[in-house]
Amino acid sequence: TVEKERNITWHNTNVTKQHRQLLHGHKSPILWFTGLSGSGKSTIANLLEQNLHKYRKSTYLLDGDNIRHGLNSDLSFNSEDRKENIRRIGEVAKLFVDSGIITLVSFISPYKADRKIVRNLVQDKEFIEIYIKCPLDICEQRDPKGLYKRARKGEIKNFTGISSPYEKPEDPEIILETEKETKETAVDKIIKYLKEHQYI
Ligand code: PPS
Repeated sequence: TVEKERNITWHNTNVTKQHRQLLHGHKSPILWFTGLSGSGKSTIANLLEQNLHKYRKSTYLLDGDNIRHGLNSDLSFNSEDRKENIRRIGEVAKLFVDSGIITLVSFISPYKADRKIVRNLVQDKEFIEIYIKCPLDICEQRDPKGLYKRARKGEIKNFTGISSPYEKPEDPEIILETEKETKETAVDKIIKYLKEHQYI
């Protein structure tokens, strides 16, 4: 195998994911938020984390803008770098799953194939895809960072929705429509899902 050629071996640890989950008192899925810039991913993920924390659940939020300041500061927005961005985040999220922590991941993650790769990194039911659905024209009206305006002027290239594609999820576990519902309702829906499926 490739691993044999590279002289690396996998070591199992005595403390396992199951032990860690038992300590935390809940499962440790990835809550994968995907959607256009300005759709409300970070807002909902933030409020959700606040609520989960209040109910003493162990969480961590990986957010596109923040991770691109550090771990992924070497990556641009062309399709190859976006793929690498999501691959690294997928691997990081997988470590968090193993650590027994509920991981909230908020990236545009525009490519279906890349999201699928992450889904396949973890066990069935450990990947919950949450589609933050919002029409492009509404995201563009919101334009919280003024990026759409600059993209329209041609000042930012490869901008998602304008000059770079966004591939909608086909069968996400949860869909939230942020032009129709409040962030509080959206968060309640996710919490209900987590309870009904016995994650928390
Ligand atoms: S991706 O597609 O998943 O790799 O993108 P992500 O890491 O989530 O980063 C998206 C945030 O980066 C800012 N930004 C851009 N977005 C899209 N296209 C281009 N060209 C671009 N340039 C900078 C933007 O603030 C995104 O933040 P959100 O929170 O999604 O609005």
